[in-house]
This record gives sequence, C-alpha cells and structure tokens, in this order.
Amino acid sequence: MDQRWPLHGIRLETGDLTLTVMTEPDLATVISVLPADVGLNPDATTYAGLDGEANRAAVIRQSYWRALGLWSPADWMLPFVVRRDGAVIGVQWLEGPDYLTDRTVDSSSWLVPGERGRGWGRQMRGAVLALAFGPLRADAAISSAVTSNLASLGVSRSLGYQPTYTSVLPHTGEMLQHVRLDRGRWAATGSPRCTQVEGIDLALPLFGLEPA
Ligand SMILES: CC(C)(COP(=O)(O)OP(=O)(O)OC[C@H]1O[C@@H](n2cnc3c(N)ncnc32)[C@H](O)[C@@H]1OP(=O)(O)O)[C@@H](O)C(=O)NCCC(=O)NCCS
Repeated sequence: MDQRWPLHGIRLETGDLTLTVMTEPDLATVISVLPADVGLNPDATTYAGLDGEANRAAVIRQSYWRALGLWSPADWMLPFVVRRDGAVIGVQWLEGPDYLTDRTVDSSSWLVPGERGRGWGRQMRGAVLALAFGPLRADAAISSAVTSNLASLGVSRSLGYQPTYTSVLPHTGEMLQHVRLDRGRWAATGSPRCTQVEGIDLALPLFGLEPA
C-alpha cells in the first residue's frame, strides 16, 4: 500500500514540464531558487531577528506547512513544484478557498527569471486547470494580478480567462485586475488535452469528492 500522504501522489505532466505536489525535501531547493522579485504574502509573520532572505525562506516554509497542515475539503491550497528536465524552475499553487460551496479555484505562480517568457507559465497554469476542471470537477477558475504584471495577465488571457473587475491592493495601492474562466469556456479551448493527470484517485476524498 502507498504510505504517502495522498496529495503527494498527484503528478501533472505537460509536454515540457512535470508538476509534483511540494514535499518537505523540496523546500530547500525551492528556497534556493526563489527569485528576489517574487512578492510573498505581505501578511506573513516577519521575525525581527532574521534578515530579509531568512524571512523570505520562513514564509516559503510556513506557507507549505500551513497549506498541508490546515487542509480541509472546504478550504485548501495545493503547492506544486515545477520541473523542466529534472531542474526546479518554479512553483504553481492551486487553491480552493470555498470549494464545497462554489467549486471555484484560484492560482498563483512564479518562475525563475531565466525561464520566463518561454510559454512555461501558460503550461503550468494549464496543468493545474486540467486537474481542477478534470478530476476535481471545478465550475470556474479565477485569478488576479496587478495591471502592470503583463506576464501573469498574459497567461490568463492566453488560457481564455476574461476580465471581471478591478480592485485596489491595500498594501501598495496598486490596481488589481480580476479575471475568470468558466468550465464551458475552458472545455471549448484545446487546453484540456495538453496535460496528463496521475495519482489523483487516492486524493479525491481530501477534496470531499467521491471516485468518478
Ligand atoms: C507570471 C509568470 C509565471 C508567467 O509565466 P511566463 O512563462 O513568463 O509566461 P508565458 O511565456 O507562458 O506567457 C503567457 C502569455 O503571456 C504573454 N506574455 C508573457 N510575458 C509577457 C510580457 N512581459 N508582456 C506581455 N505579454 C507577455 C505571452 O506572449 C503569452 O501569450 P500567448 O500565449 O498569447 O503568446 C512569470 O512571468 C513569472 O514568474 N513572473 C514573476 C512572478 C509573478 O509575477 N507571478 C505572478 C504573480 S501571482
């Protein structure tokens, strides 16, 4: 019998990328490649005795523990490590903050600078959308990015998300563009065929779902 925590058996394969659910041993690698320009949770604890780099490492570790430790079918956050040719190049999160009620997923991601602008952002978001709209039976996906983040908004546009509304980020005053992709629109694109989802059956109960 597979003794792993069921979430750790989930694996997504696109043409170029492999996404696996983050594990404790992945943390050191993820921290070692974390780009300085990636904004982390502004509400995370800052430790006065740690320098900036150590505080960012603490946010990465505590986000991982919080995500898996506080997991429930009603409110979950699933972190994936993204690899290309075996090397870690980024992180992709898929979140269902009110999943039992609205079947809606959110996402966030980053790539190391040298791997940006090559289509990987689109592939990795597409991979978690294939998981969401496939075995997780989502009805919709939402996302948001500051209006100056053309790459993030480009990934959304490219996958068929449509603008919904704007808001203002409390910490910086920047304008945030919100976007949404409904199940029907996702199905109408060619994207669903591009990802192979493995190892999800054993994890379905953690999402409150029966086997298909
Ligand atoms: C956001 C991010 C993950 C996007 O991944 P990426 O690999 O750079 O994006 P892709 O190459 O897949 O591009 C996806 C689409 O956006 C477009 N795009 C990418 N970068 C762009 C830019 N700087 N300006 C305009 N359009 C851009 C691409 O042309 C592509 O559109 P197409 O499919 O119609 O050709 C990546 O740029 C990143 O890590 N940025 C820093 C972290 C960050 O901002 N994360 C988002 C906050 S949650």
